[in-house]
Amino acid sequence: MTSRPVTALNDSTDHASDGRSTNWTQHKRLYQPEQLTQLLVEGVPAAKRADIRYTSVDEGACESLLPLTLASSNQFGTHQATVVALAGDYTGGAALGTVLFGAPLLGFHLVHGTDSACLWLAKFEIEYHRPSSDDLFVRASVPEAAHEGIRERFWKGAPSLIPIGVRFYCPQGELVAEGQFVYYLRHSGHMAPSSPEKKGGVMWHHMLKASARLIANVRGRESGRELPLYEDSYSREAAGKHGEILGQRFLAVLPQLQDMVAARTRALDDQMLAAMDAGVRQVVVVGAGLDFRPFRMAQTHPGVRYFELDLPIMLAERERVMARMTLPEVDRVGIPINLLFESPLTLLRGRSDFDTGAPVFVSFEGCSMYFEDGDAERILAGLAALLGGHSDSRLWLDLVSERVARGEAENAAERAFLDGMAKLGEPFVYGTDDASALFAGFGLRVLDETRSDCFRPQPEDGVFAQYRFALVGPERER
Ligand SMILES: C[S@@+](CC[C@H](N)C(=O)[O-])C[C@H]1O[C@@H](n2cnc3c(N)ncnc32)[C@H](O)[C@@H]1O
Repeated sequence: MTSRPVTALNDSTDHASDGRSTNWTQHKRLYQPEQLTQLLVEGVPAAKRADIRYTSVDEGACESLLPLTLASSNQFGTHQATVVALAGDYTGGAALGTVLFGAPLLGFHLVHGTDSACLWLAKFEIEYHRPSSDDLFVRASVPEAAHEGIRERFWKGAPSLIPIGVRFYCPQGELVAEGQFVYYLRHSGHMAPSSPEKKGGVMWHHMLKASARLIANVRGRESGRELPLYEDSYSREAAGKHGEILGQRFLAVLPQLQDMVAARTRALDDQMLAAMDAGVRQVVVVGAGLDFRPFRMAQTHPGVRYFELDLPIMLAERERVMARMTLPEVDRVGIPINLLFESPLTLLRGRSDFDTGAPVFVSFEGCSMYFEDGDAERILAGLAALLGGHSDSRLWLDLVSERVARGEAENAAERAFLDGMAKLGEPFVYGTDDASALFAGFGLRVLDETRSDCFRPQPEDGVFAQYRFALVGPERER
């Protein structure tokens, strides 16, 4: 999903073969000023407070209005210089987005598929010519000669730093300020490292950590509820302030997420404990993130060794977070892996502390839906291989339906949930409706499959039926 043709700009009938827009006539539906303003005020509360509004958007050009209000001005009754910069940032960013035909902006527009743009302001400089004591019009433009080159680099997956000129005018047309805003731009599908040797950039690391902190925060919130499904005194602390903000933001848009994460935590707890009760002493946590299960299980089920697999950057973050906390002693070891390029079995088989002859419990929690189809199935095959055919070995994972992964809804509740996910920049890309057939292909059997409303009743028209938990074991006993 990395490259696509860039076609004639004026051909209004031209679509890429997958239906994405390839020209401004089609792309501009993402840039209707009223809808764009709505997205801005929902996504950026500070912009809402400043009452920034888009007034006109065209290919390569954007204008917004920063009204002079109490919230946007200082004690002299002039616009705060930094609020002017905020308006400049979102005006320049929108102008740049208009030339990216076929690519919505991740975390801003609704993003359902794998094609989207990651856009961040990298630096800016503004020269203020005079105090701004009236409404302010903000105008940004991308020179036409640059459009084609920006698109080509973008669809090739290359990162770019793109300077956009932004000018600020009072209603009488006087130039109040002018500046240059430089944006980091990259196709979201190319943020991850393209080979095992590469580490990925700082923005990708940020996205990974944000995702793990969000889930840890949401998981930790269960403790404050009546009749909690589990005890967890670690997750909220581990998620920190960033996780708290993300939790608030996500739950405001997707209230169901809390019950979904609670249900998956409890479902996995139950299955892992059952395996331990049956004598399993090796647990492989794949995509460990900020999962504190090893510590939560420590008291009732000591003597278990945990192999925590994740990207090196996430394992480092995990250790950094844990070093600040008071935690029980647990036998655990971090194993750096990039699941896109490396096989867990190869890494574990080479270790003296992993016993290939003994049963193992493998968890793959909150991960399967974020890998593209081919990658997801290859990774699942690799996890299946870890079970080693031992009758007590188990693999637990959560899955979304194919429909959800395609962004298709059957009712209003599903539509609202999917749009919420799409808006928050965490689109699901892989799903399956037939886990049994999938795992049969790897010589495994689905032993248990549950809907995510298994612990708490939920509205039937909701999305809970589209999110399921599967326990997988060997086809037959060894
Ligand atoms: C949404 S988090 C879930 C974390 C944890 N399982 C939980 O439920 O709290 C997804 C995890 O997958 C990891 N991950 C993403 N891509 C990966 C890759 N290519 N190889 C290994 N781990 C990856 C991330 O670093 C992150 O820890």
